[in-house]
Amino acid sequence: MSTQHDEALPEVLLSKEQIEQRIAELAEEIARDYPEDEELLCLGILKGSVFFMVDLVRRLPMPVAVDFFQTSSYGSSTTPGEVLIKKDVDLPLRGRHVLLIEDIVDTGHTLTTILAMLRLRKPKSLRLCSLLDKPDRREVEVPIDYLGFSIENVFVVGYGLDYAERWRNLPYVGVATV
Ligand code: IMP
Ligand code: MG
Repeated sequence: MSTQHDEALPEVLLSKEQIEQRIAELAEEIARDYPEDEELLCLGILKGSVFFMVDLVRRLPMPVAVDFFQTSSYGSSTTPGEVLIKKDVDLPLRGRHVLLIEDIVDTGHTLTTILAMLRLRKPKSLRLCSLLDKPDRREVEVPIDYLGFSIENVFVVGYGLDYAERWRNLPYVGVATV
């Protein structure tokens, strides 16, 4: 396999096989926790979570609806957690089981704001599933109901995660050399 324009590839932190294995385990956990005959609305936060989300939902046994939500943070000079909604959810959340799917929880500000916003729409349940967690960076507590991997405080790319829009299509999670 050739490299991405022969640039040095990020060093592997989590291999494709490790990710696949962990997603299979997460899907089993989720399948155990929710009713098999009720729809689960999987809500991905664009763009990073898309790669994780499609691999995860394909393994779920219950009927699944998918939708997306996109935010962007204001500049660092403004209040942390003040997020701009770039794309809102299309589907109503009221009365539905909603599983929010994120790529990585870092300071926790974005997720805290999003969860509070979504809760106002009165879903039947609202849980969070994140592929990665960087607990050392946490500034506000966020309950992660389903977690893929807890990692050190390094900047990672691949499997959906980017550095300035690069590297999302790497099949593994690697440490960015930025
Ligand atoms: P926070 O939890 O509000 O700080 O924001 C988390 C967001 O920052 C994630 O959804 C990512 O978009 C981004 N992010 C944090 N750490 C990384 C990383 O190591 N690689 C790529 N994106 C990251
Ligand atoms: Mg993100």
